[in-house]
Amino acid sequence: MDKRAKENRVLQSEFDDVALRWIALYDDENKTAESSWWPIWRKSLKWRMQKVIEELGDVSEKNVLELGCGGGHYGAILSSKKAKWIGLDFSFNMLLSARSLVRSTGHDAKVVQADVFDLPIKTQAIDRLLCIGVIGYYPERRLTNLFLEFNRVLKLGEIFIAQSPHPLTSWFRSLFPSRLPRSYSHRPAYLAQLMKKTGFEVVKIIKIPKYKIMTAGWIYVTRKISSN
Ligand SMILES: C[S@@+](CC[C@H](N)C(=O)[O-])C[C@H]1O[C@@H](n2cnc3c(N)ncnc32)[C@H](O)[C@@H]1O
Repeated sequence: MDKRAKENRVLQSEFDDVALRWIALYDDENKTAESSWWPIWRKSLKWRMQKVIEELGDVSEKNVLELGCGGGHYGAILSSKKAKWIGLDFSFNMLLSARSLVRSTGHDAKVVQADVFDLPIKTQAIDRLLCIGVIGYYPERRLTNLFLEFNRVLKLGEIFIAQSPHPLTSWFRSLFPSRLPRSYSHRPAYLAQLMKKTGFEVVKIIKIPKYKIMTAGWIYVTRKISSN
């Protein structure tokens, strides 16, 4: 196993460890995040989800691949909009929850355990690509390969949306003492340039409102304009 695959294995087990606490953050009845910051996190979360779903446009009967799908919260919404959602994640614990959440909404859940750097997906098979809160866990030197792989699976002319980083707070980090993986704050100008270099047109970059204590975060709405 090469060095990068090993690094990803470490991240994978860290995400397996925090899966249930992560998923609880989406829970309307959250009991673990007893804090005055909870409503702020919640407000930001709702705002971001709504924006991303809006920007994906009509997803009915579209193959929507969500990379790093976590607990399947986007999947539940997208499935209810008749998308053919595929949730991909390397964390088994995340996928278990994702599958049961999507199924609980009465829809089929297709989940795949895989690494986003090496997608078991056919070339140009996907109509919408979504990657929320994942890129920020990888340093800049690894992102070109990642975006090239994303480019490969998406159909020409279709939409790829990324969000980076998760607008974390010190409160948020304190919920996961020492077990939440290290994250990187990539500059929007840098990410936009990399997206262009790897075949995406950047349609817009949406700044996520900071809501007091939150750190900055952005949603990148892009379109694939060339294959590599
Ligand atoms: C911060 S969570 C975000 C989950 C979900 N996208 C959301 O917004 O609720 C990041 C997710 O990405 C997954 N992830 C991180 N790196 C990955 C990789 N290399 N391959 C597959 N999944 C990965 C983690 O297991 C975790 O579920």
